[in-house]
Amino acid sequence: MGSSHKKFSFKRKQVVLLLLFLIVGSLVFVEFFTGIRWQKESEDALYKDATRSTQERVDDLLSRMTTDEKIGQMALVEQNSILLRSDIARFGLGALLSGGGGGPDENTQEGWLTMVNDFQERAKSSRLGIPLLYGVDAVHGHSNVFGATIFPHQIGLGASADADLVRRIAVITAEEMITTGTNWNFSPTADVVQDIRWGRTYETFGADTKLVEDLTTAYVEGLHSLSIVGTAKHYLGSGAMEWGTSTNPGYQIDQGVITIDEAVLRSTHLPPFARAIDAGVGSIMVSHASWNDVELTTSHMWLTDILKGELSFQGFVVSDWYSVFDIPGDKYDALVTAVNAGVDMVMLPYEYRLFATHMRRAVDEGDISMDRLNDAVQRILRIKFEAGLFDNQTISDADIRTFGSIEHKEVAREAVRKSLVLLKDAQQILPISKETPRILVAGDSADNLGRQAGGWTIEWQGIDGNWIPGTTILQGIEDAVSSETNVEYRQAGDFPLGTELADVGIVIVGETPYAEGVGDNEHPELSAEDLEVIDRVRAISKTIIVILVSGRPLDVSPYVNDWDALVTVWLPGSEGGGVADVLFGDYPFTGKLPLEWPL
Ligand code: GLC
Repeated sequence: MGSSHKKFSFKRKQVVLLLLFLIVGSLVFVEFFTGIRWQKESEDALYKDATRSTQERVDDLLSRMTTDEKIGQMALVEQNSILLRSDIARFGLGALLSGGGGGPDENTQEGWLTMVNDFQERAKSSRLGIPLLYGVDAVHGHSNVFGATIFPHQIGLGASADADLVRRIAVITAEEMITTGTNWNFSPTADVVQDIRWGRTYETFGADTKLVEDLTTAYVEGLHSLSIVGTAKHYLGSGAMEWGTSTNPGYQIDQGVITIDEAVLRSTHLPPFARAIDAGVGSIMVSHASWNDVELTTSHMWLTDILKGELSFQGFVVSDWYSVFDIPGDKYDALVTAVNAGVDMVMLPYEYRLFATHMRRAVDEGDISMDRLNDAVQRILRIKFEAGLFDNQTISDADIRTFGSIEHKEVAREAVRKSLVLLKDAQQILPISKETPRILVAGDSADNLGRQAGGWTIEWQGIDGNWIPGTTILQGIEDAVSSETNVEYRQAGDFPLGTELADVGIVIVGETPYAEGVGDNEHPELSAEDLEVIDRVRAISKTIIVILVSGRPLDVSPYVNDWDALVTVWLPGSEGGGVADVLFGDYPFTGKLPLEWPL
């Protein structure tokens, strides 16, 4: 064969090799940046077979996972912190979350569904196609999402003491979550509040352990009836932190120190979590507090010995926001300590690349055993299988029509009615007649949906003012009275001088929205301006009714003797019409204080 022919065949080989290199290189490039895994698991793999038992599916999937894929499942990342969407498949992330206000730019049901579906597609493009848990704080309805039904916060549900109502609210919340693709609710709060100066008082069902147990259980049952993963939080004893001990410089009591002894922790604060476990709660979120100089996030006694040992918790333990990396000292040591203590999923919520590096080192060097890694991952996988994440979940138009529906709002209005507590009515002036000729209404919280809803509504801290759909308390009053009745409203109560005495004056005041430690307050009370408004209206009304919109008891004892009636509506949410339903006698007052309110 001539040399030219040889040269030609050599060149041809070079071209073939170059082409092969380019093809393989491009495949690797695409896999790296898109997360698509060319060697995906076969469709007939046992774990994909919905007819097999959960345990069989967990065992099969676990046996197929690499160490890095196992580590990825333990990461819970805030969606805005995802640097490259391909990272979801590349790191095999187990879960994403939207913190308060952390939704999509288009904050609608459809916008959320599009966002979550895209994340899920990314996750399913990975080699094993493990779906994501997507967590939200749907703590009083799916309250991050514009247009969702906004229920009274838990403290008002505590006043209702109605477990069936709470269960129905949880079902509705689950229905509205399903329309957005979210499948994990960081709710209910199972804390038993002992100090109302705590900014999270309104997130609890109150100060009575049995009441908290019963309502926590009902809420978990409601979520699980529609396969939404519930979260009993914040394990444990957050309601008993000491004022002035917060480790967060901006707070006073939240993220503070718990000083009560083990016996009280067990008798007062543990039972709601034990009942939630019996009800099959999928996850338990660890408190950001510390006890006996130990961060609960690193307490092997509470997270493993008691929770997973004594109480046989089969779900997974999730740490609270940044609470692992908040542990003083080296982040590697903090992560190793927390995982070995019993944390199964780490709410990072930012640094997932650092997490992956540290975890791989810890497992390779034996600081975290493969048994501990497998235990954490199989707990997470079990909950994912039980929630049906691996099996086709379609959302119908009928599902989507439930979002913010009239039927849902009616239940929210029922909850408002049942949450009202009559604190004073010495002269039995309530209910007010719908034929009352002239009613004055005033106060900063009379026509303000943001104050009715409080924190964890659209934004983490809530939004003062009328930014969400709903009915204000004032609108409810105007809708309730007869056509002959004259309702006059002035926010500041500055009605024209010489106004003849009105038959009834109603002043609606209280707290501005807040969440967590931002709401820590050494003396919850009305402002001087609020008290002035009350006095102005009192001076020109035959009877004066004060309505408080707040997340906790306010100290009104110095003034209450000057008022004819006093009602707390707590944080009623979007359906303010429920207040008038009771004020004007369509329904009786049935709510009872879920904690002490000194008057
Ligand atoms: C917060 C809260 C917790 C919430 C989580 C996610 O810091 O402590 O209740 O579920 O972070 O938003």
